[in-house]
Amino acid sequence: MKKLLIISSTKNSNYDLSQDIKSYFDNKEDISCSVISLEEFDLPLYRPELEEKFKASSSFPVDIDKVKSFIVKSDALIWCSPEYNGGVSPILTNMIAWISRATDDWREGFKDKHSLVCSSSGGNGKHFIEGFTLQLSYLGSKVMDKSIIKTKKNDITKSDFDGILSDFYNSFNKV
Ligand SMILES: Cc1cc2nc3c(=O)[nH]c(=O)nc-3n(C[C@H](O)[C@H](O)[C@H](O)COP(=O)(O)O)c2cc1C
Repeated sequence: MKKLLIISSTKNSNYDLSQDIKSYFDNKEDISCSVISLEEFDLPLYRPELEEKFKASSSFPVDIDKVKSFIVKSDALIWCSPEYNGGVSPILTNMIAWISRATDDWREGFKDKHSLVCSSSGGNGKHFIEGFTLQLSYLGSKVMDKSIIKTKKNDITKSDFDGILSDFYNSFNKV
């Protein structure tokens, strides 16, 4: 059974979107799907000095290890995150920084993993999708060329929503 992890950057509308996506995969018998919100974890702000401190004591904080374990053990990832200032929100960037430093190979959590980038944003959310897609690709992920975007003015139709999730399911499930 493949493990699909949905990562929400917040506990607000992106978490609701994550739950809607999970409901789609709950109907698939060959997928085990879970949702985490980054707001549930207390990750310190990444600083090289802090990393050196953790490495000197041979241990990272428990919450970094927990998020790392969720990500490393997943077969595919769906990201639900708001656009902030035309880019990636700090809670998400911070998490990526820690995971890249807490693993032996900095790309270990992301390399060759099928990923779908989604957003519930105030404006159009596309800057986040483009920026984060570049970052995930740099980390070795296979990012789908379609996205689920919800904004205050525009919702996605049910057929587009189901269609994108179906394409994503087929992309990582055939591997
Ligand atoms: C610091 C900050 C910057 C934001 N910048 C943008 C932006 O550039 N584009 C956009 O579409 N929405 C922007 N927003 C609005 C958020 O995307 C919107 O409130 C979103 O729904 C928040 O996600 P959440 O409901 O999961 O918390 C910004 C919000 C904050 C707090």
